[in-house]
Amino acid sequence: MDWTLSEASKQAIAEEATKYPTRRSALMPALHIAQRQFGWLSEAAIEAVAKELGVPVADAQGVVTFYTMYRTKPVGRYHIQVCQNLSCSLMGAEGLIGYLEKKLGVKCGETSPDGKFTISRVECLAACGTAPVMQVNDTYYEKLTPQKVDDLVAGWAKS
Ligand code: FES
Repeated sequence: MDWTLSEASKQAIAEEATKYPTRRSALMPALHIAQRQFGWLSEAAIEAVAKELGVPVADAQGVVTFYTMYRTKPVGRYHIQVCQNLSCSLMGAEGLIGYLEKKLGVKCGETSPDGKFTISRVECLAACGTAPVMQVNDTYYEKLTPQKVDDLVAGWAKS
């Protein structure tokens, strides 16, 4: 895979860099831009972002490994991130993960053989009042119930 940042990504990173007092401060949005382009962040992608911003690669790696929203492995077309923090746990997140694993035939932390689904546990998605919550790609699904999950899975199965 070619891990060269596209011109559009470079432009977007340059634009982000103008919003901060130092280029290092633009690391988080810049990494998001790269993740959007590549789908996940390999070592080469992280290096490309660091080079683009002119910051040490170790700084970029530190950001990627600290935050769960950065993906360091390829994920399926539907990346299902289930919040496992306190409110969601109390509202049944564990059961929800088990339900998804059974329905989709894929274990948490893994990707289905057809490359369609990845299930991950993540920390607080900042929607605690509507727990349990999961994020699928860029979309939030809140106040989840088995019925809601069934409807979502039925929709994904058709795509
Ligand atoms: S605890 Fe799940 S969104 Fe905050």
